[in-house]
Amino acid sequence: MTEAVIISTARTPIGRARKGSLVSLDAFDLAEVVVPAVLERSGVPARDVDSLVLAEAYQGGGVIARNIAVRLGLDDIAGVATNQHCAGGLSAVAIAAGSVRAGMDKVVIAGGTESLSNSAMTTTRKGADGQPVTWVSASHPESPEAPAFDMSITVGENTARELGLTRLDVDEWAVYSHAQAIASIDGGYFTEQIVPVPVPQPDGSTRLFDTDEFPRRGTTVEGLAQLRLLHPELPNPTVTAGNAAGLNDAAAAVTVASDEYAEAHGLRPLARIRSWASVGVAPALTGLGPSLAIPKALDRAGLTLADIDLFEVNEAFCSVPVATIRKLGIRPEIVNINGSGASLGHPIAATGARMVVTMVAELRRRGNALGVVSMCAGGGMGAAMVIEAL
Ligand SMILES: CC(C)(COP(=O)(O)OP(=O)(O)OC[C@H]1O[C@@H](n2cnc3c(N)ncnc32)[C@H](O)[C@@H]1OP(=O)(O)O)[C@@H](O)C(=O)NCCC(=O)NCCS
Repeated sequence: MTEAVIISTARTPIGRARKGSLVSLDAFDLAEVVVPAVLERSGVPARDVDSLVLAEAYQGGGVIARNIAVRLGLDDIAGVATNQHCAGGLSAVAIAAGSVRAGMDKVVIAGGTESLSNSAMTTTRKGADGQPVTWVSASHPESPEAPAFDMSITVGENTARELGLTRLDVDEWAVYSHAQAIASIDGGYFTEQIVPVPVPQPDGSTRLFDTDEFPRRGTTVEGLAQLRLLHPELPNPTVTAGNAAGLNDAAAAVTVASDEYAEAHGLRPLARIRSWASVGVAPALTGLGPSLAIPKALDRAGLTLADIDLFEVNEAFCSVPVATIRKLGIRPEIVNINGSGASLGHPIAATGARMVVTMVAELRRRGNALGVVSMCAGGGMGAAMVIEAL
């Protein structure tokens, strides 16, 4: 059977939305940096790329991938925009892998791009006179137990309550996540993944932004305990800015090719995409998505939890990885060893691809074989992918 292999990866550093280094660039600008970098790193001539699949979540619904292909002068490359909310960047990679494994496309660039600094404000027509009013497309219907636009309840608090997690449980995880992210930055583990972003400055010069800026040095449980609860009115509330994912800007992509293409062109694959899976859950249980998606993806690969060396479970809120660990019985010390959403940041549509990029590099750095990336996704979903380093 044809295998889907990853032959190159790239990501921007992750910026802090509205307050950080990438506020002057939009999702198109970020993709315009990452796509040529991942193409160049692949060694594949542009004429051999069949398609560019890019996830977007808040950019207004156009075919962002096609826009980027044309911007880059790659008119012959078709573009597909996908949206699976927090899982969009992962489903873009899955779509690429599926097409390659089916023997259709030979090479696909796939990833996601997000600028929460510059997300689109949409309007819709309401009433008999069709007056425009501000509108955001909701991924699930509004309900008191699962507000469509307040994930701190729908994901953060509901997940903690479901598993009986305390604020200390999630704050301790946040401290761990920041420490892991900072150790990875200081160790230079992200350097080869990152493509620096030239950011125009007000004085006309350009600054190269090359390091993730969201992790906070010196994050402590005592410090986090001082932060304001987002929902103090709820019983046993847990969520603060310190244990939630950030609002962030970034893009990430990988080049997926068939193993036959890679071999025929003398390209050395970095990893094989073994399997992937998505699940739906009741929106109020969104945070439990990874605990269902991971076993489903493992089953498809003919693997068990015990086979996996490393996991990244996105910290949409820190209750999500803690809940996943407890539900599945995973060893915490092999989870989020480079940090995740609460520390590195969660640029929604880019996150899934960023996780694949990071997992490929970390498996190879450690000489490990198998990794799983997983996240919950707005609307009541979970997604997971099994990656094997080569
Ligand atoms: C939780 C949320 C509302 C906080 O927004 P915010 O107030 O802009 O958050 P900030 O990151 O600026 O943090 C606010 C303050 O908390 C404190 N803080 C945050 N993290 C901290 C840490 N690790 N240590 C110490 N203090 C911290 C700081 O005082 C910070 O202010 P400062 O940056 O001026 O020092 C926002 O991050 C959010 O909506 N997150 C969830 C995103 C989401 O839903 N994603 C989808 C998931 S399904």
